[in-house]
Amino acid sequence: MSIDHARPIHPADLPERLDALEAAVRARTPLVPRVGIVLGSGLGGLADDLADATAIPFAELPGWPAATAPGHVGRLLLGTLDGVPVAMLQGRLHAYEGNHPGLVVQPVLLMGRLGARTIVLTNAAGGLDPAFGAGTLMVIADHINMTGVTPLHGPNADAIGPRFPDQTDTWTPALRARLHDAARAEGVVLEEGVYVGLLGPTYETPAEVRMLRGWGGDAVGMSTVLEAIAARWAGLRLAGVSLVTNPGAGYLGEPLSHEEVLQAGREAGPRLARVLRRFVRDLPAD
Ligand code: HPA
Repeated sequence: MSIDHARPIHPADLPERLDALEAAVRARTPLVPRVGIVLGSGLGGLADDLADATAIPFAELPGWPAATAPGHVGRLLLGTLDGVPVAMLQGRLHAYEGNHPGLVVQPVLLMGRLGARTIVLTNAAGGLDPAFGAGTLMVIADHINMTGVTPLHGPNADAIGPRFPDQTDTWTPALRARLHDAARAEGVVLEEGVYVGLLGPTYETPAEVRMLRGWGGDAVGMSTVLEAIAARWAGLRLAGVSLVTNPGAGYLGEPLSHEEVLQAGREAGPRLARVLRRFVRDLPAD
């Protein structure tokens, strides 16, 4: 059966879809994750550290298409990381692929349904702060949703979250502190800043990079903000890290390439994996 990626999925449609997704996962594993981690472009390596993993390709979950972005495998994994039960999304569903926002956010909501109270979002991003070179790791302190869409458009599902969610502490302060603690313990430098999410799939123009910098952005990418909105709507705690794979368009006077993004992810990915692994290990039980 082909999937109509762009078919509108409103918040009110999500409880039923999540019921079906939860049942499909539960038919394969009883594991109850404490944390759900979304691995962005080139960051899939952390999945190799999972023990006793059950892997479910996106296309085998009801209503999900196969992931298509290069560098994204497209699997939901459930297993243990240093003994802590976790869910991982190796790859994600992007809006620029034509996926409706109500589809893009299903993975994080599903991880919540399965038991995760904490969600960690990672992504590859361009640097807006001129000091952020390739390989910079940035804890997401806040975000700006410039995609022009929201997953909460349409009739609400009050059983999941409120109609008008507060976004003051979208990126849970205590988890940001824990990320910094984990990085210090691992000897990894972590910056902190504001992530701007655009629809993509074009990289930005140099004029857009200057504008976004002026608006208070520190890194820019094509994911994360819709998932963040949905996770907080559903009452999940949220942390995130951007891997800056390149200075923003125009800073270097050279074109950007997806290959360069993936290469920087491969180089810096293991550093981020170490931080996340310790973060998960040190996370207190709920
Ligand atoms: N812009 C948007 N998304 C990105 C970039 C960028 O420069 N690099 C990696 N993902």
